[in-house]
Formats: sequence, C-alpha cells, structure tokens
Amino acid sequence: MKTINPIAAEHLPALLRRMPKAELHMHIEGSLEPEMMFALAQRNGLDLPYPDVASVRRAYVFGNLQEFLDIYHAGTLVLRTEQDFYDMAWAYLQRAAADNVVHAEIFFDSQTHTAHGVSTDVVINGLHRACVDAQAVLGIRAALILCFLRHLSEREAFEALEQALPLRDKLLGIGLASSERGHPPEKFASVFAKARSLGFRLVAHAGEEGPPAYIWSALDVLKVERIDHGVRAMEDAALVARLREQRIPLTVCPFSNVKLRVFPALDKHNIGQILNFGLLATINSDDPAYFGGYINDNFTQTFAALGLTSAHAYQLAQNSFSASFAETSTKRLYQNRLDEVFETFQ
Ligand code: HPA
Ligand code: ZN
Repeated sequence: MKTINPIAAEHLPALLRRMPKAELHMHIEGSLEPEMMFALAQRNGLDLPYPDVASVRRAYVFGNLQEFLDIYHAGTLVLRTEQDFYDMAWAYLQRAAADNVVHAEIFFDSQTHTAHGVSTDVVINGLHRACVDAQAVLGIRAALILCFLRHLSEREAFEALEQALPLRDKLLGIGLASSERGHPPEKFASVFAKARSLGFRLVAHAGEEGPPAYIWSALDVLKVERIDHGVRAMEDAALVARLREQRIPLTVCPFSNVKLRVFPALDKHNIGQILNFGLLATINSDDPAYFGGYINDNFTQTFAALGLTSAHAYQLAQNSFSASFAETSTKRLYQNRLDEVFETFQ
C-alpha cells in the first residue's frame, strides 16, 4: 500500500475537501432542499404543510428510519415534471462537484413518483439530462440506480422494472431502499435475478437497521455487488471475514446513521473500526438535505469526531473509486488524480 505522509489535524479538513472522491450512496430525492421544495410547490401550484423553510428544517428530527421516510415522502410530492427532476439533480451535481466529487452513482425511487401519477420516463429523462449536462459543464460523471421500495411487494418491483426498461440505456443499476426491518432482501429474489439477467449492476441497502442476516441474503440471494450501509456487519465475525476477503464494498453514511439513531453520536460510529479491519468502506451523504450535510461535511465531521488520519482519507477516496462501477480505465484516471492531490498537498 502507498505510504501516506501524516498531515496535521488542522490541515485535514482542507485535504478532505480537496481530494477527488466518488459518491455511491445518495438518494436524489433526499437532496431536495426546503428552498427548492417551496420553489417547486409554487411552480406546480401546490401547498406545503409548512409555513416556511425554517419550520421544514425544524421538522427534520427522526427517531428511526421510518420516521424519516414519512417526512421524506411528503417532500417528494412537489416533484411533478421532467424539469423538476432535472433541477433537483442539477442542484445536487453542482453541490457535489464543489465537494470534488468526480463520480456519482445516484439513487432514485421511481415507485414513489408513479404512485403520485408521475410516469417513470418523466423521472428518468429529467434526472438523466442533468447527468449528461453535468459531465459536459461540471466535468463530473454521474449515473442512475433505480431503487425498488422494499415495503412494497415484489410484484410491484417487477412493474417498476418493466416501466423502466424502455429507458434501459439511461440506467446503470438496480438497488433496494426504504423500510428495512421486516422486509428482508430475499423478498426480492426473483426481480433481482431478472435485473441481473438484463445486465444491471446490483446493490441493496442492508445492515443499517436490519440484522447481519440481511447482508448475507443480499449477497447470496440477490447477488448484489455492494452493500449500502452494512455497518451492522461488525456484529458477525464470519461476515466481516467474508466482506474483507471478497472485497465487497460498504457505502457508509455517518450523518444518516446518527440522525436515524443507529449510533448515538458521530464519535460512537464504527467507520474507524470498519476501515481498520480492512473492509472496503466508503463515506457518503445518503439524504444530504435531511441529515445535516453533503459528502464533505460527512468527511470532515466524522474525521474530527473519530480522530481519523490522512491514511484513512486516502483509503476512503481510493475505496470510493474501487467500489464504483466506473470502467477500469476511468478508475485509473481517478486514482491518478487522487495521487496527485496527496503528493502535492501541503
Ligand atoms: N434509507 C433507506 N431508504 C431510503 C433512504 C434511506 O436513507 N432515503 C431514501 N430512501
Ligand atoms: Zn440510503
């Protein structure tokens, strides 16, 4: 492994901000800031159940994942047109580029929107157009992963997949999101097998609120290539060994885990242990508008809380590229940019 020069704690935030990175776990609907929520509500002639931005932000206190999902869902009601999806994604991509994200694999849940009478092609076309423009204007590569809602049935997931197939070329992969407890990955065995046969890259949320058994079944039944969250893997030594040996990535989201009370505070988070065990973990923002910050906020505050070092920073950035679904040649390019920043940083 490359030797990383130690960097004084006071300079770490600058390094963390400057280093190029990939974001692999971010729900685009969770990037909808209250200001844009009000703007879109007005544009679409809709009323919000809040008088102003400050009262929306005050409502963002959650006891668990389900409490968050209920509020998140209310926010998605303002998204009606292709332009709305474009504007939301464009705002995120600008923000991500400012954080030196060079590659983003973006989650969205089409079922949330089709339930509101918005068709899958409106959603995908708006998001995809923002991804194309982002590469041209901001120099950030971005791709889309459609997440099935696990609180709904597998039949409904099949319908969502079917509706997305005419837009297959605009999608990178399939994921699994929403309420984890009581909805184990194996509920979606057939639809993931179908998606796999169609050539989609596969990921699933598992082991945030749900037990390590959900991580096993995401790997063995759904055959996913990455685990979203996965922090509860640390409860199961055999699972930790497997994740390490097979280099299965975990897309960890520290602010999310604290806001949803998986850990009582950032200084109790296990990302340091996960990295020190040699697992291929990454840091991501999950739902940045709801959980208190974007990817660099997650990096800088987690590093400060846990006393992580420049070697951890390098490892996390390198992991983010290794764990991405970018082409090998593109990964090499990212890696070179990373090395250049670490070699020239002072
Ligand atoms: N967890 C699970 N499902 C989700 C989330 C999340 O943070 N955001 C949007 N869907
Ligand atoms: Zn998530």
